[in-house]
Amino acid sequence: MSDPLQQPLQLPCGASLPNRIGKSAMTEGLADSQLNATTGHQHLYELWSNGGCGLLITGNVQIDRRVLERPGNVAIDGAEDREALKAWARAGTVGGNHLWMQIAHAGRQSPWWVTMEPMAPSQVQLKALGSYMKPRELEEAEILDYIERFAYAAKVAKETGFTGVQLHAAHGYLMSSFLSPVVNQRTDQWGGSLENRARFLLESIKAVRAAVGPEFPVCIKLNSADFQKGGFSFDDCLKLVEWLNDSTLDLLEISGGSYEQPVLTGKSGRESTLDDRSESTRRREAYFLDYAKAVRKVCRIPLMVTGGFRSRAVMEQALADDDLDLIGVARPVVAEPDSVKQLFEGRLDTLPQHEQHLKVGNGALGADSSSFTVKLVNIFGMMGWYYNQLHRIGRGHEPKMERSALGGLLWHLSNELKSAWRIKSFQKKVPKGVQTGRQPG
Ligand SMILES: Cc1cc2nc3c(=O)[nH]c(=O)nc-3n(C[C@H](O)[C@H](O)[C@H](O)COP(=O)(O)O)c2cc1C
Repeated sequence: MSDPLQQPLQLPCGASLPNRIGKSAMTEGLADSQLNATTGHQHLYELWSNGGCGLLITGNVQIDRRVLERPGNVAIDGAEDREALKAWARAGTVGGNHLWMQIAHAGRQSPWWVTMEPMAPSQVQLKALGSYMKPRELEEAEILDYIERFAYAAKVAKETGFTGVQLHAAHGYLMSSFLSPVVNQRTDQWGGSLENRARFLLESIKAVRAAVGPEFPVCIKLNSADFQKGGFSFDDCLKLVEWLNDSTLDLLEISGGSYEQPVLTGKSGRESTLDDRSESTRRREAYFLDYAKAVRKVCRIPLMVTGGFRSRAVMEQALADDDLDLIGVARPVVAEPDSVKQLFEGRLDTLPQHEQHLKVGNGALGADSSSFTVKLVNIFGMMGWYYNQLHRIGRGHEPKMERSALGGLLWHLSNELKSAWRIKSFQKKVPKGVQTGRQPG
């Protein structure tokens, strides 16, 4: 078979991915009131498993029920329903693809309807539409506990049939915030120099590898940069990648940004610190590719790049130029879960780009507004539309293409508040033995 997109990819641990397109993580919001996987996950992942991607990465699964990214997250912190996880893993691998669980801790990006006490390396509050409380600083015992929890969740993933794991070290969540000099102002061995800021990530990778053994794929998702003044910079990223070369990783996925600088979907909020490559980078289809090219020069780990890939031509070119090993796609497979298969079969040349039409307003109220708040509302509207479609498909409904971004945003907010209410009593029952921090307030 000569199609470059359909060549297998051999990983350092010995596993092999059947082709060169990976579905990047997308939070599903489909967990039940006890934060367990549901038939919604099974429906969604069975569709995706038959949809062409050689690798599916799940939405973020949280290691502490108190500090979720969303109230619909699955959590693995000692009380998880393993049968539900097994059913999810079975459904998500029916097509012969890999299915990796993304494991995460939301850190300070856990909204007030989930917790009034988010956690972070230091007490630096997130500025995003007033949805996030000031975090409390983690104690060292909690940091050590969380490293163990990442390892525990990875072990559970392996035991329940997932074929790999990804640690979420991007987008401003806990691992990523440790890397940021803005959010991590600690003066102990977990803060300060890059070596100290990277300690939480590097120790977590070590603990995860020890828990899953040498033959199980372990991956991380990392920011090329936070694109924030004084934040985790691209130079930091390059240095860190050199250290990661020796850390037994099987795949490095490159992304970027955070809630304060949401460039991960290609749209920037505040004026960012992108250098003079920024205009061309923003205009081009795959907006992290320039960064990936530079990462590639120092990186000995197989590389996945996610963000904006839509056309076969651009994907093929990136592979031909040896810029990466695996192409990450997310939004195109939401409303059309088999669009990658259609690309392979020659029925599509370009994956769907619904995001281009998803704006809450126009002009001064649109995505190009000079107001950061308006831009952010537009980004959350676009995200709300995708959350809504994922939820619909999981529940066995057809996607609702005619839904507007404003409709998506309103649906999302009301769904989040209802889900948050449903999980409250469960969140308070923190299991013994996996928690060293304070009890929830
Ligand atoms: C609805 C939605 C949910 C997402 N959830 C996650 C997530 O749980 N973890 C993560 O690392 N990235 C998440 N992302 C970011 C995507 O993985 C991806 O990096 C981003 O959408 C850019 O890729 P794309 O242009 O192919 O969509 C999410 C994106 C969307 C649109």
